[in-house]
Amino acid sequence: MKTIALLLMLNTYATTCKPARTDFITLRNQGITARFIRYGARLVSLDVPDKQGKPVNIVWGFDSEAAYRACKTDPYYGAIIGRYGNRIAKAAFTLNGHTYQLDKNDHGNSLHGGLSGLHTKEWQASFKTDTSVTFTCESPDGEGGYPGKLLISVTYTLTNSKGLRIDYKAITDKTTVLNLTNHAYWNLNGPGSGSILRHTLMIRTDKYTPVDSLLIPTGEIKALAGTPLDFHYGRKIGVRIDDHHAQLHYGKGYDHNFVFRPHSLQTKLAQVTGDRSGITMSVYSDQPGLQFYSGNFMAGKNTMNGGAKDNFRSGFCLETQHYPDSPNQPGFPSTVLRPGETYRSTTIYQFSAEK
Ligand code: GLA
Repeated sequence: MKTIALLLMLNTYATTCKPARTDFITLRNQGITARFIRYGARLVSLDVPDKQGKPVNIVWGFDSEAAYRACKTDPYYGAIIGRYGNRIAKAAFTLNGHTYQLDKNDHGNSLHGGLSGLHTKEWQASFKTDTSVTFTCESPDGEGGYPGKLLISVTYTLTNSKGLRIDYKAITDKTTVLNLTNHAYWNLNGPGSGSILRHTLMIRTDKYTPVDSLLIPTGEIKALAGTPLDFHYGRKIGVRIDDHHAQLHYGKGYDHNFVFRPHSLQTKLAQVTGDRSGITMSVYSDQPGLQFYSGNFMAGKNTMNGGAKDNFRSGFCLETQHYPDSPNQPGFPSTVLRPGETYRSTTIYQFSAEK
């Protein structure tokens, strides 16, 4: 009974549609086509018109759902990430006097929800229209070490104004921490077209959370001005990526959380343009952080979109989120979710192309 009541609270479970296990789920609107799979509730491809009006896929993905499951070196391609996006130091945090031990899957720290993270889950496609799909899943109490049974819903919508909107909702039956995001790897010229270093990027903030050598935040919020991480006024990603700077050395390039406070869904966090396609992606979110990751761990190990290799820095991620390691950082915004509360967050990736 309790579970049914919780499901109803999420109010997206009204209709049930059960696609065959291997089906891609396709949405279309305003000349944009998006495809998804249930495994990890992943975005598999996104076709967007380029400057000539020709559709170009701009997301790294495999050509079949089976390939995602078989991938031994899956760096979370297109997946929903949780329960905690990015790192938790020493894979532990303390809540209400109890210390919770998480999976250690990144140099003694916990990354992206650990071994049984949401990217490994069989989500249900619970509701579908031509332009939107809602995925739901349950994470049992204690999964990955996290307290509380969690019910999660993620709705992807292709909007009437050429956007991909992602609405996240969750409820818990015990006090817990939560930080959901999506881990799409973008290449606005198309996967297989080379590196992303000539894309022009603007990240509209002057602050970030510096990290140590294991990419754990030091707890400081520092100014970007004068550093190679400053994208406030827009420049090509590659211009300073190999500068001698400790932060770039730790990340092997860009792998940093940018700080947005105050913020709302009307806040444009970032804008990127592909130099060949002319496609521009703008990122809007109500989240206080944005992880810019320049594909530094991509190593050509996977054969993906139509035979393309996922080579070094051939994709980038812009993950809207709370700051890494917030459960251990009292100075960062809280990621605590309590019974009776509903976690909500929204991100919109908005597309256009210049002739
Ligand atoms: C995130 C992290 C990176 C890396 C990728 C996955 O973006 O910040 O350090 O772990 O995920 O490879």
